[in-house]
Amino acid sequence: MPETTATEGVRKLLAEHRQEHLLTFWPQLREDQQGSLLAQVQELDLPTIRDWVEHLVTGQPQPPIQHDFVPAPSYPPQPRDASEERKYVQAIELGTQRISQGKVAALTVAGGQGTRLGFDGPKGSFSISPIRKKTLFRIFAETIAAVSRRYGAVCPWYVMTSPLNHEQTLAIFKADDFYGLDPRNVLIFQQGTLPNFSLDGRILLAEKDQIARSPDGHGGCIRALARSGALADMKKRGVEYLTYWQVDNPLVRLFDPLFVGLHVLDGAQMSSKAVIKNGPKEKVGNFCLVDGKVTVIEYSDLPDELAGKRRPDGSLAFQLGSIAIHIINRTFVEHLNTKGHTLPLHRAVKKIPYIDPQGRRVEPKEPNGVKLESFIFDAIPLAERSIILEIVRGEQFAPVKNATGEDSAEATHRMMIERAAVWLESAGVKVPRKPDGSPDCILEIAPSFALDAEDIPAKRDQIPPIKPGDEVYLA
Ligand code: UD1
Repeated sequence: MPETTATEGVRKLLAEHRQEHLLTFWPQLREDQQGSLLAQVQELDLPTIRDWVEHLVTGQPQPPIQHDFVPAPSYPPQPRDASEERKYVQAIELGTQRISQGKVAALTVAGGQGTRLGFDGPKGSFSISPIRKKTLFRIFAETIAAVSRRYGAVCPWYVMTSPLNHEQTLAIFKADDFYGLDPRNVLIFQQGTLPNFSLDGRILLAEKDQIARSPDGHGGCIRALARSGALADMKKRGVEYLTYWQVDNPLVRLFDPLFVGLHVLDGAQMSSKAVIKNGPKEKVGNFCLVDGKVTVIEYSDLPDELAGKRRPDGSLAFQLGSIAIHIINRTFVEHLNTKGHTLPLHRAVKKIPYIDPQGRRVEPKEPNGVKLESFIFDAIPLAERSIILEIVRGEQFAPVKNATGEDSAEATHRMMIERAAVWLESAGVKVPRKPDGSPDCILEIAPSFALDAEDIPAKRDQIPPIKPGDEVYLA
């Protein structure tokens, strides 16, 4: 394509924003490639990008100065007194009612790359269950099916992917026949992307005709729900609440009546589940109150002296860790999509492959650029009200994040078996244990068999005696 007035205009605009290098290879491109690059450039909001470059890419942003910064209050896993007990009973009733009315839908964020796990493919297709080797997606799908049966309600499932894994995710769901769910109740939608930058603020090229971009973070689900039509779909179905979780946690308790009920009773717009941190520096977000608003402060942003601060009884002052499990009102998502409400962007310095000025592809060995992401928990302080429910870690949180060690598949495995053992023992089943206390058997409970410990007693006669070394799958 010869240089036209239109491309000249674009070139000039790019130059004004120090991004003229994006057209470096223009003369070498085929006409279709030029068309595609031009379209990508025209989509860039250059004044906003200039602002990001100044404040987030070349500048060294500091975590915001927090005043009135205290630990956030929470509901305990079990009521502490009679009045709390009454509230929990009422909450469970209310939550059960909302779920049975089909007012609650599931939202999984599954657009991340899962680089730390070293698994090539959508993380949801990572197989994790101890005996049947079910994938994360299958465990969630079976849970949703069991919830739907228990409450006699349709439980729609919204799954957010990104351009990195959308087609693959769709193909996996189709190949697995949507794990037995009705495909009309499963909506797989894509999040947006943001351009990647060199450390000096230039947008990187992934190819001579392609701008380097990456997913815009799990906070991107707010916009993506609206843009994809998922939000309108929820409204049409009468869905009022989303039960939100990350794809990496197979122990998550979805459609939890207590959590839904407390959230509704307290008139909250976005609420969270929390665990007691296993140490001052556990890599989870910290629930705090900043100017009276529930706010998650990432572990990397919590000053060491606050992270390590203890109460007289020895517990951590900032002990509530975020496990990225929320209830979010549909109307709150709608509100966040109105003008003037954008989630802040966070910078991450990463190794980003790019095309250098000589047209060579570079695979950097050291971090060379900046990716920008928004985080869903930054929406919490924008809510008028927000509650936190503390849960027991071994019951609901065992994320698979790393190839080895902490949060590895092996650790998650162990926790899945331990939870199954605890559920069985609570119904009086004898589970053989090793001298170190860990189960001396491999157990797997399918969601169709039990969604929680309370489901076990009614199935007592279907459970065989368990001998040391046994593998027992209950479905
Ligand atoms: C996250 C939280 C942390 C929390 C912990 C609990 C952040 C920054 N930190 O850490 O506060 O305590 O989980 O396990 O989130 N995702 C997308 N699109 C994206 C990026 C991520 O859908 O653009 C999804 C991933 O697929 C995954 C989830 O978000 O399901 C978490 O992403 P990840 O980057 O792994 O967060 P963590 O650092 O593990």
